[in-house]
Parts: sequence; C-alpha cells; structure tokens
Amino acid sequence: MSATLINLAYLLASILFIFGLKGLTHPRTAVRGNMYGALAMLIAVVATLVDQQIISFEMIFAGLLVGALIGVLLAAKIEMTAMPQLVAVFNGFGGGASVLVAAAALLESQLRPGAPSSTFTLSTGISALIGAVTFFGSLVAFGKLQELLSGRPLLFPGQQVINVLLGLVCLAAIGWIAADPGSMQPYWILVAAASLLGILIVIPIGGADMPVVIALLNSCSGLAAAATGFVLQNNILIIAGSLVGASGLILTQIMCKAMNRSIVSVFAGAVGGEVAVGAGEEIYEGKVKSTSADEVAMLFDTARRVVVVPGYGMAVAQAQHAVRDMAQLLQARGIEVEYAIHPVAGRMPGHMNVLLAEAEVPYDQLKEMDHANPAFEQTDVVLVIGANDVVNPLARVDDGGPISGMPILDVDKARTVVVIKRSLSPGFAGIANPLFAADNTLMYFGSAKEAILDLVTAIKET
Ligand code: TAP
Repeated sequence: MSATLINLAYLLASILFIFGLKGLTHPRTAVRGNMYGALAMLIAVVATLVDQQIISFEMIFAGLLVGALIGVLLAAKIEMTAMPQLVAVFNGFGGGASVLVAAAALLESQLRPGAPSSTFTLSTGISALIGAVTFFGSLVAFGKLQELLSGRPLLFPGQQVINVLLGLVCLAAIGWIAADPGSMQPYWILVAAASLLGILIVIPIGGADMPVVIALLNSCSGLAAAATGFVLQNNILIIAGSLVGASGLILTQIMCKAMNRSIVSVFAGAVGGEVAVGAGEEIYEGKVKSTSADEVAMLFDTARRVVVVPGYGMAVAQAQHAVRDMAQLLQARGIEVEYAIHPVAGRMPGHMNVLLAEAEVPYDQLKEMDHANPAFEQTDVVLVIGANDVVNPLARVDDGGPISGMPILDVDKARTVVVIKRSLSPGFAGIANPLFAADNTLMYFGSAKEAILDLVTAIKET
C-alpha cells in the first residue's frame, strides 16, 4: 500500500484517538469514547501490519492470542478495588515493550550497512531509559499496592546521590550508544542503570501517594512509546504515545491538586506510608454516638434534602445498587437526593462515578466537590457511605499530616451526618477522623450493603 494511504490511515486513527479522549471526559459519552479509541487502535494496528516488512505473521498472531488471553483473564478476574495495581502492571508492560522493541531495532540496524542516524540512536536510548524506569517503577508500585512490598516509604542514606549517579550513568550510556551504535554493550548498561533507577525512584514513595505515581508512570509509558515511534519511524506510535504522555501528565496534575500534593513533594517527601493510628482513642472517647436503621429512617422522614457521600467502603461492599434503590425511595417521597463526589474517593480516578453509572444513577444527580460544598449548609442529612479521608476535617489543620491541606467534602456543615462503616478504623491515610465524634454525627455501624438494605426496609416501614 502506498505511503500516502498508510499516513491517511494513521491520520484517521489519530483523529479517532483524540475524539476518544474527548468522549472519556464525560460519563455520558465515555462508552462512545472507548469505542472510538478501540477503532482507532484497530486501524493503527492494521495499517502498521500492512506497512512494515512483516516476515512472520505466525509469531504476531501467536503473540496476539497469548496477550489477548492473559488480558481477558486478568480483566475478568480482577476486583474493582485492585484496578490501580492492574493499571500499574499495564503501564509497566508498555515500558518493557519499548525497551525490547528498541533493542531489536538497534540489533537490526547493526546488520545493515552504514551508520544509523543520530535521531535513531538518541531515540533508541531514550526508549530504553524511560521504558526501563517505567517497567521497574511500575512493578514496585504494583508490589506496594498488592501488599507484596511494604507500603511504607523505604529510605536509606545516600539514596538521592545514588539516583543522581545512576542518572549520569544513563546519560553517559546514551552518549556511548550514539558514538558506537555497532555495540549492544552500552544499551544493556543503560537498561540496567535505568531499571535500578526506576526501583529507587519509587521505593521511597508511600502507599498513599501511589495513585499519583501510577498516573505519572502511565505518562512515562506513553513517552517511551513515542520515543519508540521515532526508532521505528512510525507516525501513529509517536502520536498515540504523545497523547498517552500528555493525558497521563494532566491526570497526575489533577490528582496532585485533589490530594493537595505537588509532584515534587510526592517524589521527595517520602510521606503517605502507614501512619500511626494511636491518636484515635482520645478523639473518639465518650463522644461517638451510634445509631440504627430505624433511627436513620426517622431522620429521613423529616428531611427535605439528603446528600449521599460514597467512598471506598461502598466500592468494597458493592453497595451502589442498594444505594440507588434507597435514593429512589427517598425521591418518591419528595426528598431531594444528590451524590457528592470527591475527586479521589475510592482508589482510582472516577471510581465513584463508574460505580454509580453502573447502578444507573442519573448523571445530573452527581455533584463534584466544588459544586457540592456550598450546599451542605442547606442539607438536612448527609449519608457518608464507606468514605473516611475525603470527609476528614483534619485535612483543614495545617500540621503536615498525611492529608493536611487536602480539599475535603464539608459534610460537617450539614444538619446531621450519618456515617456508615464497620468500625472506627481509619481510611487509606491511616489517621483518626474527628467527624465521627462530632456533635451532629451519628455512626451507623455495619457493612455498607447490608446497612443500606436494612435502611431501605426501615424506610418502607416508616
Ligand atoms: P478511605 O479513607 O480509604 O476510607 C474507606 C473506609 O471504608 C474505611 O474507613 C473503612 O472503614 C470503610 N469500609 C471498608 N469496607 C467497608 C464495607 N464493606 N462497608 C462499609 N465501610 C467499609 O476512603 P475514601 O474516603 O474514599 O478516601 C479515599 C482515600 O484513598 C484517600 O485518602 C485518597 O487519597 C486515597 N486514594 C485515592 C485514590 C483515587 S485516585 N481515588 C487512589 C488511591 C488512594 P471500616 O473498616 O471501619 O469499615
């Protein structure tokens, strides 16, 4: 096929990728966006297969089959709550693939007469550097989230100096590849140093900051792919890699803002590990009031406006359908019901939106933090379902604590707050929550799904 046709196919795929990303910015258009992205990928793959001098379609189809099988099994088996670590692994594989493809391209170039261009050698080096950092950094992130490794920041003396030295080794090796493209030795030295660097960059970061790291590694996997695009002179890989790189960076920035952390502090701060829980007892002592389904149903009886605040516990308990049924019951009685969504509620970006969309909660009832906060003062009952850190007033205290400065949902401004969770255990950040001991808070202890189902029964009986 002519180069013009191939480039036209790549252009079409790029446009579809961009429309796909645009679609993913809103729940209403997200499914369509996904379809555009998938179609774009199909066009890109087919055009690439036609374009390149493929010598073994058997190997490609065997790889496709094995990869698809592993992908389908993983996607089907994975718990929704383990999605961040799955994303981490996917990013890592993207980086690993860039390392291997760049190595193969360099090997192949050595079989051809004449020296390769400096663009080729430089992008080969950059592919290997970013790819190896991404692969090993992602493996550490996976290990931390899967609790195979400690979630605590791992620090040792001289760590920063070693990182700088490893960075310098990487740069020297890239220079060496450019100077002597006929040898594979500098390439593997680069891969080894970059792999170590990837591990050392991520191990000092605590579990609580891992989502930000994963978003950043996602961006890196895109940049590695874009560099590989230059190695292979494949336009769609350059464009798609850049799109992943840019969107990963934007996501990183949104998450940093929502957690009130800067990227620099994430990488240098070594905070966010398992924090001592001790302080909880004195905050709670004698002040926690527990309630029951019947009491909450009576509260609803006199309420005009109810706001539901979902969190990680709702996801664990898969309570979203029961929550929707409860909300419909309240709405049928003339009560206004809204959902207030914190940007980092749960364990992945958009976690609550996905769950509530799955339960077919209308989008217009979901309110983002900035819209929800001013309305809490006019709210009769806030029902906090398995959320903790995102409603913790300690975030307003500037004491350098793990969530200090993080914007929260101001649920404590409502007339009554009902918190559904199983115990007084802390959330992800590992700290006590004074909200549970506040005068206007009632604790409704139980697992979210059963608690809501009991509440539905109680509402029907009142
Ligand atoms: P968390 O603060 O983690 O609190 C979740 C609460 O759910 C826990 O206190 C737990 O209390 C309760 N829970 C667990 N299982 C439950 C069940 N079956 N039924 C009822 N409750 C249950 O959740 P959050 O408020 O959603 O905050 C999210 C946190 O995760 C933030 O610190 C955020 O920074 C972090 N984070 C966010 C992301 C993204 S991007 N969303 C990714 C990773 C981490 P009990 O054990 O007492 O029930």
